[in-house]
Amino acid sequence: MTSIAFIAPDGTRYDIDAPNGSSAMENAIRRDVPGIDADCGGACACATCHVYVDEPHLALLGKPEAMEEDMLDFALDVRPQSRLSCQIRIRPELEGLVLRVPDRQA
Ligand code: FES
Repeated sequence: MTSIAFIAPDGTRYDIDAPNGSSAMENAIRRDVPGIDADCGGACACATCHVYVDEPHLALLGKPEAMEEDMLDFALDVRPQSRLSCQIRIRPELEGLVLRVPDRQA
């Protein structure tokens, strides 16, 4: 398990023990984090799992794949720290990962 957290637009923090190998999105759905709808079920085809990744973990994630990059064009309020949470695979190095849900998504 790896400890991660989602922060909803209203500031509510969801601390989650996430199984390694799961996607960040799957954990958000399990905890009903508002604003993470994941309409496509993790197929990188909807952008409704958009999050902002805090440093220092953003650097650890590396660059998004081309497919994720393309899909982020459909997300709202995209920033340099934007990622699709279905493409973030939980692993021990991501301990303490904080993901913020964009305001306009909730
Ligand atoms: S769940 Fe659809 S792009 Fe992530």
